[in-house]
Amino acid sequence: MERNPYTVIKMLSGLERLVERALMSDQPYYPGLEGVVAGETSISTIEEGLRYRGYSIEELAESSTFPEVAYLLLHGELPNQEFLADFRAILDDTGELPAPVANLLTDIPLHASAMDVLRTGISAVAHFDPQPDETGREADIARATRLLAWIPQLIATRYRVSRGLEPIEADADLGFAANLLYQITGRQPTALEERAMDVSLILYAEHEFNASTFTARVVTSTESDLYSAISAAVGALKGPLHGGANERVMQVLDEVGSPENAEDWIRNALANKQRIMGFGHRVYKMGDPRAVILKDYCRQLAERRGDLSLERTADTIEVIVGEEKELRPNLDWPSARLYHYLGLDVELYTPLFVASRVAGWAAHVIEQSENNRLIRPRSRYIGPDDRPFVALDERG
Ligand code: CMC
Repeated sequence: MERNPYTVIKMLSGLERLVERALMSDQPYYPGLEGVVAGETSISTIEEGLRYRGYSIEELAESSTFPEVAYLLLHGELPNQEFLADFRAILDDTGELPAPVANLLTDIPLHASAMDVLRTGISAVAHFDPQPDETGREADIARATRLLAWIPQLIATRYRVSRGLEPIEADADLGFAANLLYQITGRQPTALEERAMDVSLILYAEHEFNASTFTARVVTSTESDLYSAISAAVGALKGPLHGGANERVMQVLDEVGSPENAEDWIRNALANKQRIMGFGHRVYKMGDPRAVILKDYCRQLAERRGDLSLERTADTIEVIVGEEKELRPNLDWPSARLYHYLGLDVELYTPLFVASRVAGWAAHVIEQSENNRLIRPRSRYIGPDDRPFVALDERG
């Protein structure tokens, strides 16, 4: 008997669906991709401590500056003096924000959050790329370097205009971290303040396949462009389980109010099953090495101010969360206090994370582009079984 070709195709595709379903139901599934190796990278590792391209963060935080680290992430090697001077010159010479972008920062309604405005600003500067059609490693390094120069301006300009203050031009005599603080606050930082900011930027710069970096890699894997990848990454970073945690930490510390109130507050929060911002980590279960480094700077800044009350509050919470939940602080726990001591408003904390992490994101965009395979995983279907379509006028 000769079969209708349409029936044969239907039989085969039915078979294919059965095989597919059987195969998929056997696939292991890890919610949140926990523990799943989703790619290879030579940019950083958190096995046996955090290292950027082989260098431990302890050594980088002790002896380098953020521009050196950004160069290392983007180019693969630490710069010598000449290369660093060139890199700094490119950062300095990138110039002011294009006027339409600066105007946009003034025009966006004041209720928009600093993170949302930064995401829009990064998208907007993309339209002023001098070589929009150039692709490849060198073009993306040039784009990333421009973003490194422009993101501090986007953050500082929006911050100042939203408070009726004039934007401040960068001071060529100041380093990257000092300029970032100066352009926001209008005050030149002390040596300790500059170093504390620099170290926070170094520590925030890169962290292998975290949620925002993975977002950037997914976007890149479709052969989209660097600006799209970075804008998407900013959106992923904003959430309170990721970069948004540093702002929530400061809200918690404000709510606690005083060291005397800390024990009652934390015991009550834990009894109510509250998630304590700045604690816990998907990968570091024994503690985040970055938090240890930054805590030391918090103490130094607090001592310099002659007021250790916030440190005492933080210590009490840290001890009790450790004892009761076996959870250790992550980087966002000390960074909130550090930015507070530097005189920065809370809404700037996550944008400052962006100012640093853009170096890591861009390195991942370049790495993904150079060895690309579309990132397209599967899902396990848990919806209704096959059912016949019901015409609109027959639905109840
Ligand atoms: N406070 C209270 N309980 C917590 C916390 C916390 N911060 N973190 C984890 N737990 C508990 C959680 O409730 C769960 O308990 P149980 O088994 O009784 O239900 C257990 O610990 C395991 O938690 P999990 O959510 O499965 O762990 P995870 O690996 O998915 O969580 C995390 C990682 C970062 C989402 C989580 O620790 C958290 O929400 N922390 C607070 C937000 C935060 O600080 N984020 C910054 C992350 S690191 C730097 C960055 O990306 O910016």
